[in-house]
Amino acid sequence: MGDGADDLSVAQRVLDHIARGTTDAGSEVWREPVANYLSDERFAAELALLRRTEVPFCPSSALQEEGSYLAREAAGVPILAVRGADGVVRAFRNACRHRGAQVAKGEGCAKSFVCPYHAWTYELDGRLRHVPHEDGFPGLDKQAHGLVPVQCQERLGLIFINQDSSETVGDSLPELLAPGREVIGCRESELEVNWKIFLEGFIEGYHIRYTHPESFYPYGFDNLNVIDLYGRSGRITYPFRRIRKLEKVAPAERRVEGLLTYVYHVFPNALVTILSRHTNLVVLEPLAPGRTRQLTWTIANDPGEEALAEARRDQAFVGNTGALEDRAVVESIQRGLKANANQAFTFGKYEPLIVHFHRTLDDALGA
Ligand code: FES
Ligand SMILES: [Fe+2]
Repeated sequence: MGDGADDLSVAQRVLDHIARGTTDAGSEVWREPVANYLSDERFAAELALLRRTEVPFCPSSALQEEGSYLAREAAGVPILAVRGADGVVRAFRNACRHRGAQVAKGEGCAKSFVCPYHAWTYELDGRLRHVPHEDGFPGLDKQAHGLVPVQCQERLGLIFINQDSSETVGDSLPELLAPGREVIGCRESELEVNWKIFLEGFIEGYHIRYTHPESFYPYGFDNLNVIDLYGRSGRITYPFRRIRKLEKVAPAERRVEGLLTYVYHVFPNALVTILSRHTNLVVLEPLAPGRTRQLTWTIANDPGEEALAEARRDQAFVGNTGALEDRAVVESIQRGLKANANQAFTFGKYEPLIVHFHRTLDDALGA
């Protein structure tokens, strides 16, 4: 396994694996207790971890303009992120300081936030600007009744929030999303599956041949991946078969565009999948031990009408084939938990990013 390798060295590692019939592998086998997917107590600890960890909230490009906002629940807490008049993105607890109604819903562009209940009005930077019939609140300190901020940072092309702690671990990930690219899709769905089971399906290539025989496998390899670690986070590379054409190209002349799919796991609950023409930010919001909300933003890798059309076409292919196959499998695993057949799941040497995830999660939970 490597450590934050660049495109060309990833391509070389892939070619070496093809030549030798090998793949990146871990050194240990991990046994994850099945109880960790079922227990309410464990689930509560994981939610608390998500609230005290810096996590992706949305792509930067979902909040392009001054006043662009997005409101959603993160780890069960209503949060509002908005780009201010000064261009800075801020995040707040989405609850009015009068009696707690949400001051914004969904996404849009606003000049200010007017609470739908009694119209207390907040600036984009959270300050309380206006209270109707203010004489009804003698002594109200408006300065102390702005929206309550949560820590928010824009970097790597993403908006990160941290609700309950100021700690920034700052995994040394590279830029994940080019700024200013167009969001071509934003989808939300709920699955009857534990969020970790869903996550595990994204970060190993051991299943590609068998789960995706007609969708991904014809373009890819059986159990041939390159793994890189970035602190708590990691990346798995899925090469396309057509990368073999680089065997005959001098290393310095190689171009990897369209030959590698990168899947970054941004610890704990986000993925950035960089395909040939589009990139997805996937956030897995745990709703219950057996229920997860999947939020997916799709961003075109390049500007221009033609690039957008190609990105949409690729997105439809992946979404209508491989993604459905993955979904069927993880829901089947969730049902299988009830079979009571396994005390633990065994992750082998060819699932090293999952092993890294569970070890890191245990550490973060103090388990
Ligand atoms: S709850 Fe928001 S104005 Fe009353
Ligand atoms: Fe898959």
